[in-house]
Amino acid sequence: MSYIEFKDVRKVYHVGEVDITALDGINLSIEQGEFVVIAGASGAGKSTILNILGGMDTATSGEIIVDGSRVDRLNDREMTDYRRFDIGFVFQFYNLVQNLTALENVELATEICRNPLDPRQTLIDVGLGERIDNFPSQLSGGEQQRVAIARALAKNPKLLLCDEPTGALDYVTGKQILLLLQETCRRNRMTTIIITHNLALCPMGDKVFRVNSGRIVSAEVNPHPQDIRTIEW
Ligand SMILES: Nc1ncnc2c1ncn2[C@@H]1O[C@H](COP(=O)(O)OP(=O)(O)OP(=O)(O)O)[C@@H](O)[C@H]1O
Ligand SMILES: [Mg+2]
Repeated sequence: MSYIEFKDVRKVYHVGEVDITALDGINLSIEQGEFVVIAGASGAGKSTILNILGGMDTATSGEIIVDGSRVDRLNDREMTDYRRFDIGFVFQFYNLVQNLTALENVELATEICRNPLDPRQTLIDVGLGERIDNFPSQLSGGEQQRVAIARALAKNPKLLLCDEPTGALDYVTGKQILLLLQETCRRNRMTTIIITHNLALCPMGDKVFRVNSGRIVSAEVNPHPQDIRTIEW
């Protein structure tokens, strides 16, 4: 059994009289420590996959297995623990608390965790040693995303889930953030999943899933993932 498995996962949203099939039978498997890319056009179902994997949404049917546990069978209490202890999430627009400093944003997340990393050291590790006491408004977009990554990493989660983490960043800053995520994945052997609509980024993944209309249309393993520094788009 793989570390993460989706088996025939379906998600149907009911909006008034209309049923919207967001996921139409997703099957995938991911091994521990892999750097995974999920790519596809807008509306393909990428965020829905990540939200279900991260316990922020539930599937209509199908099985979701993470580290030997059936996530789709967790009750509310267990689901809260799963989100709290096992999942680190990074969003496109950082979602930092504006009136807390970088350090306080990371500390806030670690307060509810079991085995958190040291917030200050984690900020140093993502390259923000000099900006620890700055507020988000005093930081660039790339720096704010580094705080958000530090916040997710400091929870010491099993999975790092990133939904368009470079969507709001310029080209060079986006590359730096992807490099940071890839290096962190390698160094900590932390299973990391990156969502992107940019197909040019696919070669950076150890494993790449392309999604279209709620289905996986290709699943590729890259024995030699491309160095992000050499990818141009
Ligand atoms: N809460 C919701 N209620 C109704 N429909 C939804 C909801 N969330 C997502 N959908 C629909 O499910 C489908 C998949 O959406 P999803 O957000 O997963 O796409 P995506 O691949 O992440 O797109 P994008 O690249 O634009 O973020 C879309 O048709 C979307 O409109
Ligand atoms: Mg999305």
